[in-house]
Amino acid sequence: MDKNYYITTPIYYPSAKPHMGHAYSSIIADFFARFKRIDGFNVHFLTGTDEHGLKIQRAAENKNIDPLKFCDQISQTFRELSETLNLSNTDFIRTTEDRHKKTVQHLWSELEANDDIYLSKYSGWYSVSDEAFYSEDEIVDKNGIKVSEASGSIVEWIEEESYFFRLSKWQDKLLDYFEKNPEFISPKSRKNEVVNFVKGGLKDLSISRKAFSWGIKVPNNSEHVIYVWLDALTNYISALNYPDRSDTLFKNFWPASVHLIGKDILRFHAVYWPAFLMAAKIPLPKKIYGHGWILSGDEKMSKSKGNILDPIDIINTYGLDPLRYYLIKEVSFGNDGNISQDRLEDCINSDLANNYGNLCQRVTAFAEKNCSLKVPKIKNFNEDDLVVLNKFTENLSVIRQEIDKQNINFYINFIVSALFEANKYFNDQEPWKKKDDKDRLNTIVYTSLEIIRKISFMLYPIIPDSIDKALKIFNLNSKDINLESIASHDYLKAGNDINKIDILFKKIEKKND
Ligand code: ME8
Ligand code: MG
Repeated sequence: MDKNYYITTPIYYPSAKPHMGHAYSSIIADFFARFKRIDGFNVHFLTGTDEHGLKIQRAAENKNIDPLKFCDQISQTFRELSETLNLSNTDFIRTTEDRHKKTVQHLWSELEANDDIYLSKYSGWYSVSDEAFYSEDEIVDKNGIKVSEASGSIVEWIEEESYFFRLSKWQDKLLDYFEKNPEFISPKSRKNEVVNFVKGGLKDLSISRKAFSWGIKVPNNSEHVIYVWLDALTNYISALNYPDRSDTLFKNFWPASVHLIGKDILRFHAVYWPAFLMAAKIPLPKKIYGHGWILSGDEKMSKSKGNILDPIDIINTYGLDPLRYYLIKEVSFGNDGNISQDRLEDCINSDLANNYGNLCQRVTAFAEKNCSLKVPKIKNFNEDDLVVLNKFTENLSVIRQEIDKQNINFYINFIVSALFEANKYFNDQEPWKKKDDKDRLNTIVYTSLEIIRKISFMLYPIIPDSIDKALKIFNLNSKDINLESIASHDYLKAGNDINKIDILFKKIEKKND
């Protein structure tokens, strides 16, 4: 079995500072990376910034700064956000780095050598905000201004000499690939849109620009810079040291397990990128997952719409882990979702403070009074104990399968119901009434501790920092977490110390309560 796992986020445009949408993609990717790591995988997790193109050049011009200096500044805020979000990324790539430029130029030469590139003239619509070409039938008129129907961003007419990629040549091969690899474009709901676009007929793609200079130069023709999407997509392999196919990173991690992206950039990832790769005879990534949008009202939250919510503000008010938990639980993964402070507060109060944090406190406090803060020794479990314990044993392989389908909703629902059952178990068993039956009391405490341990292990990919604190109960830390062990009922050893811990999540006083 392949025990390597490679997950990527989009590389973000540093045209303005990061917002909640960026935080969302990155947190979700981090969730998968951490899950796979506790399941014994060797994980490579890449994120970074996409720094070339007219969009960035103009943003820098507006601020009167040299584009590279401009990128240095904003890329740094994305790097800092990665730290603030506690991302476990193993690399951060900038497309202005030499390692990246070399790979892009090499890939260009390979496409050229395979006769997939020719010089001609482009005339058509272009959106700088999306860095995308649009055909006439993708454009609509909005109050006299031409905009892309899909994104709503303004398009401008361009006419210039341009290199083209023979995208049309790959149409049938792409369709064939989609059919043979039904999971390649996920979730299922997004696949049709891509298939229809390809079936509608692919035109050759303009892959160079002459009108501006902020980009990677076309080999042997320095009047042209390489189209920013060909440049950007290549980050996924330049970070693995392609073209050195014998490099350990490339050998271990290519093809990628999943490119996690927002649905706004599906076409680039599910059509252009696989076509470039096919043309260069590079294997295709296993999956492109296009998640939904964080909305602000009914609209996509975006820099260009100016309706952004700053993740830093939310983190400063509520802490990081509540935000991570909220985004994973309340935005049904795959669909669009809203950010609501009210719901976020509910998550903190009911799920995190009550159902999880308070359970940890109650059980350890009880173990302190009745088991001298030691893991009690037990004889045997009864049916009630086994029902709650076995839930994990029975579902371990399902959990793995669902995660491989990016079914985060299954995962979080499993945890929420496990927490509910754990609380119910402790209440129903009434260990405080079992002082005359020490064996039974011990078994209830042991079972409760085991369930807290299992749930904590599963919560780790969602709220890693809090789990590091919670695991102090057992003298464990996150490095000890191993998913496989949620199937066992005798992980905790009798006689080991139990520690009391500080309150994990403080309840929020809600204004309208
Ligand atoms: O497109 N909701 O960069 P970008 C959820 N540089 N996710 C959102 C979001 C929202 N409202 N807004 C943004 C680019 N995102 C290119 C990518 S990849 C080779 C190059 C997330 O800064 C989502 O993942 O516009 C989306 O695809 C990405 O940020 C776009 O970021
Ligand atoms: Mg965008």
